[in-house]
Amino acid sequence: SIYCASVTAPVNIAVVKYWGKRDPKLNLPTNSSLSVTLSQSDLRTHTTASCSSTYPPPDTLILNGQSEELNNRTLTCLKLLRSMRAELESSDATLPKLSQHPLKVVTANNFPTAAGLASSAAGFAALVYAIAQLYQLPHSPTELSRIARQGSGSACRSLFGGYVAWEGGEKADGSDSLAVQVAPPSHWPGMRALILVVSAAKKGVSSTSGMQQTCTTSALFQHRVKDVVPRVMGQMKEAVEKKDFDKFAEITMRDSNNFHACCLDTTPPIFYMNDVSRAAVRMVEWINEKAGRRVAAYTFDAGPNCVVYYEEGSGREVAGTFKGLLGGAAGWDGERGRAVEAAEE
Ligand code: DP6
Repeated sequence: SIYCASVTAPVNIAVVKYWGKRDPKLNLPTNSSLSVTLSQSDLRTHTTASCSSTYPPPDTLILNGQSEELNNRTLTCLKLLRSMRAELESSDATLPKLSQHPLKVVTANNFPTAAGLASSAAGFAALVYAIAQLYQLPHSPTELSRIARQGSGSACRSLFGGYVAWEGGEKADGSDSLAVQVAPPSHWPGMRALILVVSAAKKGVSSTSGMQQTCTTSALFQHRVKDVVPRVMGQMKEAVEKKDFDKFAEITMRDSNNFHACCLDTTPPIFYMNDVSRAAVRMVEWINEKAGRRVAAYTFDAGPNCVVYYEEGSGREVAGTFKGLLGGAAGWDGERGRAVEAAEE
């Protein structure tokens, strides 16, 4: 027989960024981070995991319709999940020995892969979650985050909806480096995200190698890790708890700028934002100035695409302004990208 499980995992966009590894092998971060998980209805990865004694070995992976080589990160995740299943099987002899069957993983994104749209986050979260379901593992999302983290750091946060902290931890074995939910989506139901796809092209410098270069060459980054992030993590949790959008926006924009400043301070410098990204920054600043308070917050990951957070009540001022500028709801197409609206859960 064939055993099968299907799941989806959404993208998350950090408002306090993860950048830097204290242990590249275990994929442990230099600092904690905090993100907002987008709703399941928008940017997401759909993954089906199946296994059967009738499948020929080895394990296989199909990504967006194409057969892919299993990289080391994927192999690590599969190995960890298999050993968790094997442990269950050894304590309960009635369980089918799924850990001994070859695995088949079929996965697809509904958005451009590796364009700085957190595809690895949704991808590894979906992979880990699908296999955990297939193996009927009793582990909590926080326990599974330890595995997803080893696929891609940011993936550990996509195992939860809403507001999620990845506590960097201090232990050398990584046992305290875990994702926890700060608040569920229902805590702040008016939160919205607008994704401005400036470019759907693959990014120039991957986050994995970019952050390594920043770690080893930037002095500004040492300041970020020691003095900036520990302080803003607490402030951001408080802003979420109080649903203080003004504070949420201030920290989000400052942290994005601090992260990109560290990229610029890297030798050789890394440029993720481009002229269109900077135009989006000016647009948000202008919207906030006109409103007389912060009603919108921009943030950029390792690519030029802009994510704008706003509250539903400010939809006309924020999403309306962007869409008006970009030519209607259908967006901003052609060379300059396109506007996609993503609602919070
Ligand atoms: C800028 O999670 O892609 O999006 O752990 O090497 O796979 P690896 O890195 P990855 O880095 C994400 C960096 C970021 C910030 C963030 O999501 O916190």
